[in-house]
Amino acid sequence: MTDTPTRSLDFGVLFGTSGHHLAGWRVGPERGGGNAGKELDVAEAIRLAQQYERAGLSALFVADVVSVWGEHLDSLSRTTRASYFEPLTLLSALAAVTERIGLVATATTSYNEPFTIARKFASLDHISHGRAGWNVVTSVVPLEAGNFGRDAHYGHAERYARAEEFVDAVTGLWDTVADDAFPRDKVSGIYVDRAGRRALDFRGEHVSTAGPLNISRPPQGHPVIFQAGASETGRAFAARVGEVIFAAPRTLEEARRYREGLDDALRAVGRAPADVRVWPGLSPIIGSTHEEAARLRDELNALLHEDVLRRVIQDNVGDVDFSGFDLDAPLPELPESNRSRSRADGIVALAREEGLTLRQLALRWAGGGIVGTPDEIADHIQEWFEAGVADGFNLAFPYLPGGADAFLEDVLPELERRGIWRPHYGATLRDTLGLPRPDLTIADFAGVTA
Ligand SMILES: Cc1cc2nc3c(=O)[nH]c(=O)nc-3n(C[C@H](O)[C@H](O)[C@H](O)COP(=O)(O)O)c2cc1C
Repeated sequence: MTDTPTRSLDFGVLFGTSGHHLAGWRVGPERGGGNAGKELDVAEAIRLAQQYERAGLSALFVADVVSVWGEHLDSLSRTTRASYFEPLTLLSALAAVTERIGLVATATTSYNEPFTIARKFASLDHISHGRAGWNVVTSVVPLEAGNFGRDAHYGHAERYARAEEFVDAVTGLWDTVADDAFPRDKVSGIYVDRAGRRALDFRGEHVSTAGPLNISRPPQGHPVIFQAGASETGRAFAARVGEVIFAAPRTLEEARRYREGLDDALRAVGRAPADVRVWPGLSPIIGSTHEEAARLRDELNALLHEDVLRRVIQDNVGDVDFSGFDLDAPLPELPESNRSRSRADGIVALAREEGLTLRQLALRWAGGGIVGTPDEIADHIQEWFEAGVADGFNLAFPYLPGGADAFLEDVLPELERRGIWRPHYGATLRDTLGLPRPDLTIADFAGVTA
């Protein structure tokens, strides 16, 4: 059958080799774990990428921080977050051993230059024949500043102001080369048409770049832009530039409010809500019964050391020292954070609304998400998809390889049986996601309209 559903459900996967739950690496092989020590094992990364592609997931997403992931070495020493691949390097390797799955790399606008980013993502798009995506972030870990010659991280408003210019400069650079700029005509001897390239001469307050780009236009025109802004400024930015938005709502009602707010912001900048996908996160802990899944979550949580629990919250809310703080006391008053403001606000709101102690709050945040049987997980996905608040989900498997196997082998087939999802790949990541390609020809450069 070749019937195409009007709206297809997509799954991205937060790509890592040892699991998203902070204690996931400690799960033994007898419980479906066993990937401890494999965070730099490229053979395992290839195996997982190919497994995800065979199952029909739409994209691999590699998160990134350009420093060690958290400044507190006592807790860092108990997680896998001190050692990870640079995303574009990893995805270039995976591009060569996969054929259809999208490859989304995180790159920060705070500690890069637009020309480097435009060139690297154009390269990945060519290497993968049109499967590249860019997760645009402004950096949430203040330690990054010190690695790039700065004493302090940019403030929230400044880093978003830079990000606005940065994305315009990058897309502008991709648009310095027309789709048909390279005739490579042996008879005339013209390799590149002079009329098919132009300078950019972008001069902003935060970034400047001349162009043109030194590589032909990416197969997708522009690699797909992913974004996860959640604060007011971040959401406005996402509405202007994002094509797939990672969101982190906790309830269906929150997800609905998020989607409505985003749609208003999209219309305000003249974009059609139908052109933007929203993918909430989903970290499923799956059991053959609900009780078994809950037991598995409790076992995972019991593997979290108290230092890790304290730092989970501390790393997200900012400049407070929780060491020596009673984990079973309520969350204290906190100063304003320069990290992810929305995340800090969300954590505080959750604690206040539900009267959670620091320990209970940290356990919610440590990586475990929805708990249930394959049927229950499928119900959740179906409910959010059919309510129009999710176009896809960004999966984060709590432990590996068993956490991925359970989803791919038991939940996906159930969704397919229900007619909610089916494997679908287009020629490029844009095609897979049903996003339009920005075409640009030499005729457009000349201002000629068809
Ligand atoms: C699924 C998801 C993945 C993210 N990945 C990264 C990342 O890899 N690196 C990073 O610095 N920030 C990452 N972020 C943080 C966002 O870019 C953003 O800063 C955050 O959602 C808070 O929004 P705000 O900056 O508007 O406060 C991610 C957020 C989400 C929801």
